[in-house]
Amino acid sequence: MDIVNPALNDYLLAHCTPADDVLRDLAAETRGALPGQAGMQITQDEGMFLTLLVRLTGARLAVEVGTFTGYSSICIARGLSAGGRLLACDVSDEWTSVARRHWERAGVADRIDLRIAPAAETLRGLPREETIDFAFIDADKTGYPVYYEELVTRLRPGGVIVLDNTLRSGRVVDPAAQDPADVAIRAINDTVAADERVESVLLPLRDGVTVVRKR
Ligand SMILES: C[S@@+](CC[C@H](N)C(=O)[O-])C[C@H]1O[C@@H](n2cnc3c(N)ncnc32)[C@H](O)[C@@H]1O
Repeated sequence: MDIVNPALNDYLLAHCTPADDVLRDLAAETRGALPGQAGMQITQDEGMFLTLLVRLTGARLAVEVGTFTGYSSICIARGLSAGGRLLACDVSDEWTSVARRHWERAGVADRIDLRIAPAAETLRGLPREETIDFAFIDADKTGYPVYYEELVTRLRPGGVIVLDNTLRSGRVVDPAAQDPADVAIRAINDTVAADERVESVLLPLRDGVTVVRKR
């Protein structure tokens, strides 16, 4: 299912702040070197959306779950306030080695702390205080319920969590779609919508992007 009509999509992309050379080169390198996985990378419009949200929340401490080759981490790191830090979580040394090179080129390497480990372990090891200003969840879909809970308890009031792929190409409304990722995304969508600790909106941006703000 196209979430956005393709003609409108081209128009949206043409009317959003363009990606700079670093992001364009990273997208091209990812497509060339990892054609089977490049579709996991977020796009120009979602990247700009993340940068804007990070700026608008005045975030100093951000967490990313699912770094891949680094597109979203560059977009988040660029939006941080002076002295801000991004904790980036992934399990792949290979993919994040591409990210590291592009963080250097983007001038944000000094504000990103990469942890190579299952994200649930990394998040559970963080202090339980409400110190996180911004978080982006874009990793294994079956992990979302755990990532959300670990992050929302550590989010400061007014802090924001963004969850990617919350429409699963429309499969959330197809009762025949029952793979574990589809089931997990329906579960987290229901959890977020009913969670009284937060206010939220599920946007038809790309593959579905949910924005959550802690009350
Ligand atoms: C959809 S990609 C992330 C795309 C990235 N946000 C971007 O903008 O390019 C998902 C990433 O999650 C990572 N991942 C999968 N399972 C994980 C886990 N249990 N803990 C941490 N990262 C995991 C994968 O290695 C992969 O790099």
